[in-house]
Amino acid sequence: MPGSSTAKRSVRLLDLHPPHGDFRSEVLDGLGAEDKWLSAKYFYDERGSHLFDAITHLPEYYPTRTELGIMDSSMPEIAARVGPRSCIIEFGSGSGLKTRRLLNGLDSPVAYVPVEISRDHLLSSAQTLADEFQDLEVLPVCADFTAPFELPNPASQAERNVVFFPGSTIGNFTHEYAADLLAVMRIEAGRGGGLVVGVDLRKDRGILERAYNDARGVTADFNLNLLRRINRELGGSFDLDRFRHRAIWNDADGRIEMYLDSLADQIVTVAGERIRFREGESILTEYSHKYELREFAELASGSGLRVLQTWTDPDSLFSIQYLECVD
Ligand code: AVI
Repeated sequence: MPGSSTAKRSVRLLDLHPPHGDFRSEVLDGLGAEDKWLSAKYFYDERGSHLFDAITHLPEYYPTRTELGIMDSSMPEIAARVGPRSCIIEFGSGSGLKTRRLLNGLDSPVAYVPVEISRDHLLSSAQTLADEFQDLEVLPVCADFTAPFELPNPASQAERNVVFFPGSTIGNFTHEYAADLLAVMRIEAGRGGGLVVGVDLRKDRGILERAYNDARGVTADFNLNLLRRINRELGGSFDLDRFRHRAIWNDADGRIEMYLDSLADQIVTVAGERIRFREGESILTEYSHKYELREFAELASGSGLRVLQTWTDPDSLFSIQYLECVD
């Protein structure tokens, strides 16, 4: 499918001017709360994105290689389910392996619409894909995908819109927000459309806790990098040696929870505000929900979606699911 020529094509951006979350006020809200928290969306500055990439290659972190393995073994079936001449709408601007594998495996997709709030990242990844897939219309949309947004019109009419949301990023949302996000995806896919979603599955606690507490400490570095970012961007005074990464499996809520634990009684300044920590006090930084297949089907059904087909690996660690929009 990638074109033989490497000629540059201009990429037409639909800029919906999304309001950006305010890092300062969200951080101060979270650190001022009774149970301290920071939003996981702020992990991904330049260093954090590199660290996440390193996580995906760790031996303990099974999701990425398992999902790619499912894509390899099941692509003909996934392509048959999606059908020919689809318009693929990716929530997030993936120019990575998964996007390429999907686009390469599908039957004559007509358009690819990456949707992402960060304009620069969106444009550069869209341009890379447009150069690589010369027969595909690449129509990036700069928008906050947690609320319905306008879609561009491809020059050639697609048979079906299919939302692509790999990586089990859906797991980073609470059930309530995940249901809202699935409802937005249903709106964007529209009548007759569908979703291809990567969903991580419940499994043995040991496998899960090792995946988020890797031996080399890359996940710890990724988590602590949030404090480094606050120091740099908000004039913070966090001493990274006085906080420790912790990830635990919460069986009742079906999720990995990541924390930064204070190793001492201490006062930290952020954006001119003094924040007091007790020794042992935690900052919640991320949830990563894992689902039973039945549980995810119920969640999706509440958002007007029906699971039509599920592909898993031989050990049932991870799943890729095709969901159709219910009229
Ligand atoms: C992006 N997301 C699906 C990852 C996850 O597994 O929840 C983020 C991550 N956090 C720690 N390791 C990986």
